[in-house]
Order: sequence, then structure tokens, then C-alpha cells
Amino acid sequence: MADPLQRCFSEARLNGLTLRNRLIKAATFEGKSPGGMPSEDLLRLHQRVGEGGIAMTTLAYCAAEADGRIHEHMMHMHEGIRPALERLIRTVQATGARVSGQLGHCGNFTKNREFTGRRPLGPSRAINALGLTAGMPFAGTLSQREIRARVETFARAAAFMKSAGFDAIEIHFGHGYAISQFISPRTNRRTDKYGGSLTNRMRFGLEVLAAVRTAVGDDFPLLGKISMSDGVRGGITYDDAPEIAALLEAGGIDAIICSGGTSSMNPMLLFRGASLLQGLLEHEKSAFMRFGMRLAGKRMFREYPYEETYFLEPAKRVRDRVTCGVCYIGGVCTSASIGTLMAEGFDFIQLGRGLLYDPDFPKHAVADAGYVNGCTHCNRCATLIDAAGGIHCVLEPDNFSPGATGIPDGR
Ligand SMILES: Cc1cc2nc3c(=O)[nH]c(=O)nc-3n(C[C@H](O)[C@H](O)[C@H](O)COP(=O)(O)O)c2cc1C
Repeated sequence: MADPLQRCFSEARLNGLTLRNRLIKAATFEGKSPGGMPSEDLLRLHQRVGEGGIAMTTLAYCAAEADGRIHEHMMHMHEGIRPALERLIRTVQATGARVSGQLGHCGNFTKNREFTGRRPLGPSRAINALGLTAGMPFAGTLSQREIRARVETFARAAAFMKSAGFDAIEIHFGHGYAISQFISPRTNRRTDKYGGSLTNRMRFGLEVLAAVRTAVGDDFPLLGKISMSDGVRGGITYDDAPEIAALLEAGGIDAIICSGGTSSMNPMLLFRGASLLQGLLEHEKSAFMRFGMRLAGKRMFREYPYEETYFLEPAKRVRDRVTCGVCYIGGVCTSASIGTLMAEGFDFIQLGRGLLYDPDFPKHAVADAGYVNGCTHCNRCATLIDAAGGIHCVLEPDNFSPGATGIPDGR
């Protein structure tokens, strides 16, 4: 068998799309789209990781509709951003990298001050703690008619993304966002065909996948990011993950990205390492929200020490269950880990924080089998997503610090 590291750095195919290697930049919402418009800083960040040798970058949080945003400084897929988006995509493609967009919807939690509905909607009634200061403390239940309309927003957004030049689309099935709110029994208490068994709870996600597939055609690469476990009582567990993956494979997904956790209930399951709490408190403007975060802090931001390839064991169970592509994500910071994951049969690897620390990670890893990335998993980058100017690496401040076009302060 070829050297596993070599396998990573040779060309790969994803539903007809040629990738120069098997490393993909993970979606890391950068907070560099003020007013929902992709900025020069956002373009430069993705261009820079393209220059660093990544095969494909992922533009995070491409909302299916305006009300699918957590806040108003996120992009939603509409004609108003087409020129800026097309320019970003073309610029990144000129580096030899491909561009994927993470298509998602917040569902029942938002603090979007431009929200047009009466309240956010999810599978079942819920408290929208994030929206307390935005005057939206509750989330309501989607009717079946509203579910069909939401599916259509995904399809429309996907058609727009393909026409804007994206090479692939990553549908967000995880992390507690709209689709995952249906998949998880913790947030889905419906008694109709969208609730109950896993098959029923997957129905909305599979309808989204089918509608997106129809919108983009059979020969367009579709990835799906799942939570293998919610990491909360009453949520989905690692035992559910292989079945979720099998249903997505049967629904026509090209590759499954194996993540975990929920942004709103247990974010540390997907990050590991230092708690996000302190940094988020420092950037939260509302004293009321700071108070709430302190109260919920210990329960929400649990301790999970960092270890390399922390999702390896459950991700291997997904790998064993499906024949479609499987992409590993979570704690890859060395050439050795890349080799291990290739030897385990994963098709692709997504890199998040390691690339923010070192955008040349792919070049360095291919040149040096002993490469160790310097990211300490302090997770400060992730606490900056709502801060003025968005994210950068605090250890390597030259990496992506805000330029002229950062988000204005004062949110
Ligand atoms: C700053 C930051 C922002 C993130 N934003 C997103 C996001 O928008 N969508 C998503 O699915 N995951 C998001 N994540 C999670 C990453 O995609 C990834 O799952 C996580 O960082 C673990 O991978 P890593 O160990 O390679 O960093 C974010 C992570 C970071 C650090």
C-alpha cells in the first residue's frame, strides 16, 4: 500500500471534482461579512489558505435564507451578494484551491436583529436563549407547510450557490442547527411523520438533501456535516451516527463529515481544549447575557481536554458503515495524524484551527513527516467570531487580523 501521507497529497475525486490533495479547510465562521456582505478580509483569508496548498476551502455559514442567520452579519444566499461572492470564489480558485460553501439554517435559535418573522421556528417549541436581548425569547413549531417552505429555501440557495461558482456544497446536518434540531430527540418532540423514530427525525434533512440534489444536479459534489453525538442527555449518541450516515448515503450524499456536539448546548465536544467561556464573556456587550452565560457556563462549557484526532473512534464506525466518501474532522495538527487517518481509510480530512495558526499547514505537512502544528487549542479564535473584525489567531496575530473592512464594533 502506498505511504498513507503520500495518499493524502495525491489527487482525489469527489463526485467528478478533482482535488489536488485530500485536505479541506473546515467551515470556521470568520465574522468577516459585515451586514451580510463578504468582505475583502474574508476573501484574503480564503485566498491565503488556498495559497497554503489546501485542496478546497469552505465558506462558513451560507444561510439558506435571511431569517436562517444567527445574526445580521452573516451571509444569506441572494442576488445582492452575487458580485462580491463571485469575486471571492474566482480569486480563491486562482490559487488552485476549490471552494465549497456551508449551507445552513439556524432554525430555532437566533439573535438576528433583522429577523422578519414573529419568532424563530424549529421542530418543537423551545426557549431561544440567544434571542433574549433581541426580543425573541421563544421559538415556535414549524407546521408541515412551513417545513416544505424551508426545504425550498435550501434548494433555492443551493441553485444560487452553484450559479455563483461554488465547486461544492456542504449541507450542515449537525451542531444543533436547523436540520440537527430535527434529527435530535432532545429538540424534536413531534408526533407527526417528522418526529419519533430516527427515520422520521431524519425526514426533514433527507428532504433537504433531495431538494438540493435536484437543484444542483447529480454531478455536483455534496458533502454533509453531521454531529455523531449531541453530547447532551436525551440527544443523539455515537450509536446513532452510523445509521444517520447510512441514511444520508442512501439519500445521495457524496461525503460525510464526522463532527459532534451542539453550538448552543455543548460546544466543547467539538472544540476540546480551553473553555470558550472566558473569551465569550470578554466580547459579550450585554450585561444581561454575560450574567446568563456565567449562570449556564459550567454546564454549557464542559471540560474536554484536547487530544489529537479526538473523534477517531466514532468516525471509524461511520467509515465502516458507508461506502460514500468520509471526511475526518477534529484535532488534526500533525503529519502523523494525517498518516493515521489515511491508513484508517478516510477519504478527506478537514482542518480548522490548525490552518488559522498556519495557513501553510498543507505545504509544511507534505514537506515534513514530523510536522507539528503550533495551535494550542486555546480556542481564542472561536471566541472572536462576533468580535469587531472577526477571527484571527491570537498566537500568530498576522494571520487574518482585521484589515480595513472588519465588522464595525458595537454589536
Ligand atoms: C473560529 C471557529 C469558527 C467555527 N465556525 C464553524 C461554522 O461556522 N460551522 C461549523 O460547522 N463549524 C464551525 N467550527 C468548527 C470547525 O469546523 C471544526 O469542527 C472544529 O474547529 C474542530 O476542528 P479542528 O480541530 O481542526 O479545529 C468553527 C471552529 C472555529 C475554531
